[in-house]
Amino acid sequence: MADRQRPVRTTTLQQRKQSGPKITVLTAYDATMARILDTAGIDVLLVGDSLGTVIMGESSTIPVTMDIMLHHTRAVVRGTQRALVVADLPFLSAQISPEEAIRNAGRLLQEGGAAAVKLEGGREPRTIEAIVRAGIPVMGHLGLIPQYVHQLGGYGTQGRTDADAARLIEEAVAVAEAGAFAVVLESIPAALADEITKRVPIPTIGIGAGPLCDGQVLVSYDAFGLYTGSFVPPFAKVYARLGETMADAAREFIEEVRAGSFPAK
Ligand code: KIV
Repeated sequence: MADRQRPVRTTTLQQRKQSGPKITVLTAYDATMARILDTAGIDVLLVGDSLGTVIMGESSTIPVTMDIMLHHTRAVVRGTQRALVVADLPFLSAQISPEEAIRNAGRLLQEGGAAAVKLEGGREPRTIEAIVRAGIPVMGHLGLIPQYVHQLGGYGTQGRTDADAARLIEEAVAVAEAGAFAVVLESIPAALADEITKRVPIPTIGIGAGPLCDGQVLVSYDAFGLYTGSFVPPFAKVYARLGETMADAAREFIEEVRAGSFPAK
């Protein structure tokens, strides 16, 4: 059983790779959602740049800036007592130079209050190494990396060919060697995720990567049936239909106000 009281640290997640239970991660973007998920016992709250689509209504995560990430990270941290809060480094905040990556990662801890940052891509393990050397824990993210959507040619499954699978294994090993404390594997075949999970000493957190990773992450707006935009990934299990519940509640409110039955005298 996971300890429901003790704060979750990066080291807690590393122990879980050896002895379980599996690591649970959901995205959160505000204090209210963070408080609900934290109270439920989630291990990690990811302030994902997926907020670009589910909160801002953009068609990708590319418009998300550091200022937007800081604003939402601060809110999530205020609503969290136990979970580890990890904040995404948004598009171009870590790609220009390792120095700029350290500065931006540092802002997510110093101004945002996060305990760790997440960085997409495995081509530049030097950047991960530099951020970790500055004392900032880094979660890697490989496979379908949405900030690279225009290079990848869409949101399809990655690692299907032997060459692509071999490259992803190499990148996962490099990310681990660079000092990342965990790595997200998004939208890759389950057998490849299993292979990576066995090959790297750090926990793997899957999303659309099968059941054999050390943990699982979902975008909360997908998991709770809140997101009604154009693209909901096929692997996103809907655990509740809160969007429908909210629409029903809104219709009831509208009817009662129009009928004069709310508020009561
Ligand atoms: O931005 C995000 O929410 C993510 C998860 C999908 C892993 O990166």
